[in-house]
Amino acid sequence: MKVLIVYYSTFGNVCKMAKLVAEGVNQVEGAEAVIRRVPELMPEAVIQSREDTKAGAEMQKGVPVVTLDDFKEAGAIAFGTPTRFGNVSAQLKNQIDQLGSLWMQRIFEGKPAGVFVSTGTLHGGQESTILSLMNVLFHLGFVVVGVPYSVPDLYLTQGGGAPYGPDHVAGAENSREIDEHEANICRAFGKRLAEIGLKLNR
Ligand SMILES: Cc1cc2nc3c(=O)[nH]c(=O)nc-3n(C[C@H](O)[C@H](O)[C@H](O)COP(=O)(O)O)c2cc1C
Repeated sequence: MKVLIVYYSTFGNVCKMAKLVAEGVNQVEGAEAVIRRVPELMPEAVIQSREDTKAGAEMQKGVPVVTLDDFKEAGAIAFGTPTRFGNVSAQLKNQIDQLGSLWMQRIFEGKPAGVFVSTGTLHGGQESTILSLMNVLFHLGFVVVGVPYSVPDLYLTQGGGAPYGPDHVAGAENSREIDEHEANICRAFGKRLAEIGLKLNR
């Protein structure tokens, strides 16, 4: 079963989280992580005008852009986004807004999906971003998945990570590295999504 990890990332933090979620997926026998990014909406000139945005784009050059076939073939989906004013990025939402034909075909009904997010600040909208995107997942027919408290890192984290889904606090300059607890929560989320996907797609 393919587990699609589809994300948007400007500076690279959500991209790094996607790889950690994939590690968790690939721990599960019978599951295969497929990492895809969504198209950029910012003009190329804006990206090229800053060192940090240029570096973020460079990091992701090798990641294929998601296709409708990727969504159709997935038995489970993880959606990753940086927060934008406490909400999902326009880039990821733009891609989701192109899923109307698959929604009409009921492609996602009964499949598990969840959300992971990176924010600049600790209380800058991790939970609100995840929960906002979950509204959309319910409409699409997904079985919505988070991270249960049997994952010990939920008790230990001083950064991101919540029962709603994995989070990372990237810091005001986007330079704070993903810490051990945030990484473990990403992996646990990927593993759980894959295990539930295998059960539901039986
Ligand atoms: C337009 C804009 C709005 C943002 N809004 C928030 C916000 O509401 N709260 C917050 O903590 N960080 C906010 N940030 C910071 C980003 O969430 C942070 O840079 C991001 O998590 C880094 O992810 P990335 O490296 O994958 O791009 C904002 C950044 C931009 C560019």
